[in-house]
Amino acid sequence: MSRRRLQQLLLAAVVLVHAAAVGCRAFQIEEATVDDIQLGFRNGSLTSRRLVLFYLDRIARLNPLLHAVIEVNPDALAQAARADAERRRAPSPPGGPLHGVPVLLKDNIATRDRLNTTAGSLALLGSVPGGTPAWCGGSGVPARWCSARPTSTSGPTSAPSKAPAAGARVVARAGTGSAIAAAANMAAATLGTETDGSILCPSSLNSVVGIKPTVGLTSRAGVVPISPRQDTIGPICRTVADAVQVLDAIVSYDSRDAKATRAASKYIPPGGYVQFLKPDGLKGKRIGIPNGFFNFPSGTVQQIVYQQLLDTVRKQGAVVIENLDIANLTVIQDVLNNGQQIVLPAEFKSSLNTYLSDLSYSPVRSLAEIIAFNDAHPIEERLKDFGQLIFLVAENTTGIGALERAIIHQLNKLSADGLEKLMKDEQLDAIITPNDSVSTVLAIGGMPAITVPAGYGKRGVPFGICFGGLKGYEPRLIEMAYAFEQATKVRKAPKFLRGTF
Ligand SMILES: *[C@@H]1O[C@H](CO)[C@@H](O)[C@H](O)[C@H]1NC(C)=O
Ligand SMILES: *[C@@H]1O[C@H](CO)[C@@H](O)[C@H](O)[C@H]1NC(C)=O
Ligand SMILES: *[C@@H]1O[C@H](CO)[C@@H](O)[C@H](O)[C@H]1NC(C)=O
Ligand SMILES: *[C@@H]1O[C@H](CO)[C@@H](O)[C@H](O)[C@H]1NC(C)=O
Ligand SMILES: *[C@@H]1O[C@H](CO)[C@@H](O)[C@H](O)[C@H]1NC(C)=O
Repeated sequence: MSRRRLQQLLLAAVVLVHAAAVGCRAFQIEEATVDDIQLGFRNGSLTSRRLVLFYLDRIARLNPLLHAVIEVNPDALAQAARADAERRRAPSPPGGPLHGVPVLLKDNIATRDRLNTTAGSLALLGSVPGGTPAWCGGSGVPARWCSARPTSTSGPTSAPSKAPAAGARVVARAGTGSAIAAAANMAAATLGTETDGSILCPSSLNSVVGIKPTVGLTSRAGVVPISPRQDTIGPICRTVADAVQVLDAIVSYDSRDAKATRAASKYIPPGGYVQFLKPDGLKGKRIGIPNGFFNFPSGTVQQIVYQQLLDTVRKQGAVVIENLDIANLTVIQDVLNNGQQIVLPAEFKSSLNTYLSDLSYSPVRSLAEIIAFNDAHPIEERLKDFGQLIFLVAENTTGIGALERAIIHQLNKLSADGLEKLMKDEQLDAIITPNDSVSTVLAIGGMPAITVPAGYGKRGVPFGICFGGLKGYEPRLIEMAYAFEQATKVRKAPKFLRGTF
């Protein structure tokens, strides 16, 4: 036998062994969707326990590199075993499609377990939530799926990433842990929170799907607040379908966030959101392209790719209307002068103080005590790097008085005269914008959006495309985002992992 032939045979043998190994490994967890996982549970090739073991191992290996996760639930394996037992007893347990599926939650979302909820602040370590959002351990959704949490911030509370008035781009860094964890398969799904960009920004920059729900659609009870007028909780996942299954699990009226959830619960469609995952969901939709967002120099990757993507959107049957104006856009986008810089610190102080006083136990009970804590722990809280100016500015506020009410009225008017009027006049189902660039326009109106991977720029840095709409537009945004995703399939699993694994 020639040496070459031997080599070929050996290669064939290696390929065969590899194929057999893949065949035996009945379930490939990396990149598995919630639907895959459900199928795996049903056909017996997967258990919750195996899922949790996989993700714990993955977190242990990748986190030293990615710093996305600050705590994992010490009871996760026991919870998984319980979920497996429940499924053996009842093949369709009451928890729905996420029963027994491990997720990561941003560190400002309280859970009913041993996890700390700190929003990245040492001052809150050891605090015990007074309650959790209705969807976390409440009726319908099993507590078990709250398994581990990513970092909410890259630094302590005094870090600019928690700064309520620091502007969209800085605030947006707050959700990075969730998006990185989703992108790198450190959990089946993750949750983030957004005040102005913190779901949309990290999702688009990590090539994952983020849904920013209409404010009030998801309960904020037990979530460390910035602004009750703007805060919202939403999924960050690898696919639109996964994100929508998570959305279904977390939308509801919640008596502990009564006003906002009562107002928004009228938008929840009977039968939930999964029904809107339609491959032809772009057909017949009217989509606006507002001026002021796609300003990429001609010939750049972004300019070329976005043009191609808009062509795809048209080919999928949507009517794309370009050259539209959002009234007062420059006023709205100027986050340091549009009034947010006055209202957000006031809202932050009063809502944070309420949050702190509602805790069952807490080492600190007010913003003033957090400031004092940071002053007493300057090294641990990295005061030199971050300061705590935003906290000091907020502490100086005296609640929502006449000035703040006037500014809120003005922000509402800017929203009504701006995106709301444009969408009604042009009968739009959505606007399309790049990355999170529209976040402030949506934030001041409490409006929803979905970001979907759109492409990769120089050196592989991802960018996203955002479908934004009016309050309650989730069904049609899901239709469009899903159809877009299915027609383009842009997302690639991150490559650097191969070297690590
Ligand atoms: C069970 O379903 C999973 C997910 O689709 C699939 O990968 C696996 O091959 C299936 N196994 C069996 C034994 O049917
Ligand atoms: C919560 O914080 C305390 C204090 O640092 C720590 O001992 C404990 O392990 C943390 N809990 C989890 C689940 O990591
Ligand atoms: C916003 O635009 C509308 C319509 O163009 C205008 O009437 C209104 O005065 C503007 N408001 C502000 C605050 O600029
Ligand atoms: C707080 O208010 C006082 C009195 O108006 C002012 O002197 C101080 O500069 C303010 N501090 C901050 C951080 O805004
Ligand atoms: C979107 O993000 C990508 C990657 O950081 C960047 O290249 C692009 O310029 C961003 N676009 C906008 C409008 O911010």
